[in-house]
Amino acid sequence: MAETSRHPFLQGLSKHRGAPPTAVVIFGASGDLTARKLIPAVYNLAADNLLPPDFHLSGYGRKEISNDAFRDLAAEAIKEFSRRELSDDVWDRIAAKTTYVAGGYDDPAAFDRLAAHLAQIDKEVGRDVQPLFYMSTPPSVFAPILRNLGASGLAEKHLGTSLHAKVIIEKPFGRDLESALKLNGTIREVLQEHQVYRIDHYLGKETVQDLLVQRFSNAIFEPLWNRNYIDNVQITVSEEVGVGTRGGYYEQSGALRDMIQNHTMQLVALTAMEPPVSLDAEAIRDEKMKLLRAIQPLDLGPNGDVARAQYAAGMIAGKPEPGYLEEAGIAAESSTETYAGIRLSINNWRWQGVPFYLRSGKRMARRVTEIAVQFKRPPGTLFAGGAFDLAANTLSFQIQPDEGLSLVLNGKVPGLETRTQPVKMNFSYSTTFGSNTPEAYERLVLDAMIGDGTLFIRGDEAETSWKLYTPLLEAWAEAGREGMGSYAAGSWGPANADELLVAREHVWRKP
Ligand SMILES: NC(=O)c1ccc[n+]([C@@H]2O[C@H](COP(=O)([O-])OP(=O)(O)OC[C@H]3O[C@@H](n4cnc5c(N)ncnc54)[C@H](OP(=O)(O)O)[C@@H]3O)[C@@H](O)[C@H]2O)c1
Repeated sequence: MAETSRHPFLQGLSKHRGAPPTAVVIFGASGDLTARKLIPAVYNLAADNLLPPDFHLSGYGRKEISNDAFRDLAAEAIKEFSRRELSDDVWDRIAAKTTYVAGGYDDPAAFDRLAAHLAQIDKEVGRDVQPLFYMSTPPSVFAPILRNLGASGLAEKHLGTSLHAKVIIEKPFGRDLESALKLNGTIREVLQEHQVYRIDHYLGKETVQDLLVQRFSNAIFEPLWNRNYIDNVQITVSEEVGVGTRGGYYEQSGALRDMIQNHTMQLVALTAMEPPVSLDAEAIRDEKMKLLRAIQPLDLGPNGDVARAQYAAGMIAGKPEPGYLEEAGIAAESSTETYAGIRLSINNWRWQGVPFYLRSGKRMARRVTEIAVQFKRPPGTLFAGGAFDLAANTLSFQIQPDEGLSLVLNGKVPGLETRTQPVKMNFSYSTTFGSNTPEAYERLVLDAMIGDGTLFIRGDEAETSWKLYTPLLEAWAEAGREGMGSYAAGSWGPANADELLVAREHVWRKP
């Protein structure tokens, strides 16, 4: 066996992927997420032969529809949204075991019917089948579903065995600290933490997992991964799209809740955490928690750590786009931010003094999610002056859309004079591995079936992140539009966010 294959991290990654007999129940069966992501994820797992032989899928929803009608809806969803075309071979295997249970989310009798339905599946299979409940409904229904899972006994089904009931909970996980604590409280009334899989689909992306592999399986990074060599870290989650038809939803959310508090903080934690002792879920989550706890409270004062803005009219791809306040469903005096910029300070041995800059916005110049690690500049004694165009070495992880990794170095321009120029080394996922990589939801549904919570968020992580951002949300709510910046649609963001970087003579990247 090669030396590298015995490395503990690589051993962890080659975990056996076989799932036990499972009955997946999707609450919110008629929903958008079910059609766009969940049914296609199940279909692609089947196509990759990753579903157990005794796999059952049940939709649960308020409409009275037949099993056949639900199968038709599922087949349509696969045709429209799956990364693979619908093939009868694969679909027939799942369709035969796809059923539908009609019922309300606050109707105990309906949950008793669901319990009977799952008991019948156990009976037909002739052994215990693991129930996996997927809460794909608006969050207002999470609590009634949880209570009814408790009251019907489903939450405790097969508890004490590896086939115990598991529950995947969709985002948003609360809208502030109080609501997150309340939701966690309701969860704890009926479930044990190891039964709960709080989803953040960013963690299912190949490139986010690659971040762990890059950091901990390459010897060249770890010695440099600290305040001695790293100058700053910039994490960007930008979108080209505006709010579109979802203005009503977005007005209740904003960039901080929608992107920064959840996805971006997970990227911070994975980038900055200490090496875990293993790839076990708890080992990784413990390290993420330690890191999250080391983040200092935000300075909310003038020239502090935060900036917010709304997009104004502008041009994207040569097309004029309206400003946020002109979009459908947006209040004329809306104080919802479409852009949030944050400067984080991490007070630990590794990162003290290294700013982590986070930004997320809609209608920005490009859709991109990246983590850029900027190294310190070398002393400029040798290559200084006009002929030398030198950049800070930057390692950037492109999470989407052009998945890969790039490193900016400085090189010599060919010629008789000594001139330098930054050059970029690129590793592109699609060039190296082809483009048909699994979707995040495939990985996450499979992991939950296997009982691997590594790529899910633990309750204390969600609470700690809300603890950091709730004072800011409250301050912004109180300030109304005061201090709200503006940026042209199609630009890289507002001037007030540039201010976050000025004190350290940093500038935002233009990825
Ligand atoms: N859509 C996405 O791309 C996406 C991405 C990330 C996260 N999420 C999260 O995933 C969950 C589901 O998203 P979604 O876009 O599928 O939501 P949705 O379409 O608004 O609702 C999903 C389903 O929930 C059921 N439901 C129960 N109570 C409801 C109520 N009071 N109002 C409306 N529907 C109700 C409905 O199913 P029945 O009529 O069958 O009962 C509905 O079709 C949400 O928590 C969302 O935040 C969605």
